[in-house]
Amino acid sequence: MKPISPSLGRAALLALLKERSPLGPLKVMAKHVGRFFQIPLPGFRPYVVFGPEANRKVLVTEREKVLWRNTDPVTDLLRRGVLIVDGEEHDRYRALMEPPLHPSRLPAYTDMMIWQTERVASTWRDGDIVDMLVESRKIALLIIMQALFSKDVWDDLPRIWTPILKAIEYISPGAWILWRKIPRPGYKKHLRALDDYLYQIIASRRASMTSYQLPATNDLLQHLIDAGLTDDLIRDQMLTMLIAGHDTSTALLAWTFVLLGEHPDIHQRLIEELDTLDKSPLLDQVIKESLRLYPPIHIGNRRVAEEMDFGDCKAPAGERLFYSIYLTHRDPAIWENPDSFCPERFAHGRKTPPFSYVPFGGGPRACIGGAFGQAEARVVLSYLLRNYQFQFTHHPIHPHMGATLEPRPGVRMRVSKRAENRE
Ligand code: HEM
Repeated sequence: MKPISPSLGRAALLALLKERSPLGPLKVMAKHVGRFFQIPLPGFRPYVVFGPEANRKVLVTEREKVLWRNTDPVTDLLRRGVLIVDGEEHDRYRALMEPPLHPSRLPAYTDMMIWQTERVASTWRDGDIVDMLVESRKIALLIIMQALFSKDVWDDLPRIWTPILKAIEYISPGAWILWRKIPRPGYKKHLRALDDYLYQIIASRRASMTSYQLPATNDLLQHLIDAGLTDDLIRDQMLTMLIAGHDTSTALLAWTFVLLGEHPDIHQRLIEELDTLDKSPLLDQVIKESLRLYPPIHIGNRRVAEEMDFGDCKAPAGERLFYSIYLTHRDPAIWENPDSFCPERFAHGRKTPPFSYVPFGGGPRACIGGAFGQAEARVVLSYLLRNYQFQFTHHPIHPHMGATLEPRPGVRMRVSKRAENRE
């Protein structure tokens, strides 16, 4: 691994200022150091790897050498959630949660997804400027809670909104990365409110399951209850799915609006295709390209359990290791014009080399909701673009590293009902 010279340090700092995001310095390190480097911060020195070979190692061939469980706020919040635990415990929860997310179940969610999207859109008045980051989050929250727990949270949105944003902020990178012991006031009350809300959902489901009444639903919550999990374990899985299943979709929808706003020609072609075809190939390509440029989960976070080799470099046991989805997706050795928005690169089912396109990770711990998230994006975007006109207000946007990669300060768009759809 090349040592970090003062000039490289300066270039990284400049990139941080210019791009207003740590993604800038990561790109500088990738360009000048290579596909294996260490972040040189005091108290925080994770190893970063990227590219198909490294991804394959971490995700598949040498996955036994890494652990998911880490010592950080994500683990504190999600406790024994499927995203956190390792080994047999993980495999057990995962097997329980897969059936409601199986691709064969997805068509059954379509009408509900449209209905929830329509409800949010019906609050917009013609000519309003709306923030599509916020609106996408509302839609994604309504959809995930309804799909997995049969809970319509429309009336509860005001009550759970801040607790959910606080939970996301709690697990987002921040000063705690450098100073672990830093006090973090202002979260307890909100995290407790979110817990109370989830425990109430569990209790009311249990109460509805009298010996005379068979469970009416076949949702994820019911699978967890039927498997005999305790309320605490069920809460851990619910919170995991709620956060992992809506913050990612929020980011995907919001970035797609940014990219369409910045590329009116593609936006227009997409609308024409959606107006004439039931299934738009361009929409699939746009979603894929949006996931490439702004992968909502931009790194996979691991702890090295047993020393790993990456070429002639070594990641020692005990260290933190990130596999970077973002850097893999922007690698000029893999992608032509990697920073350009070019949905056509996915046209005609064009394939990419294995492990070079990994928005949902890979291997046995690939995203459990990948098919759901993509189906949701297709349904929501088709509905909104067929029925509403979106005009980007062209304000500056930068990628913010929260729990996911978010377009900040938001995505302000002027909306109006499309003339042909007005009543
Ligand atoms: C656009 C949408 C989504 C994206 C881009 C995304 C991305 C990812 C990625 C990259 C991973 C692997 C991370 C790693 O290797 O460390 C992952 C795992 C996971 N995702 Fe997603 N995700 C999305 C939607 C969803 C949805 C809708 C759900 C739930 C319904 C979900 C639940 C999970 C869970 C539980 C895991 C952990 C799986 C395990 O460890 O076995 N995700 N996701």
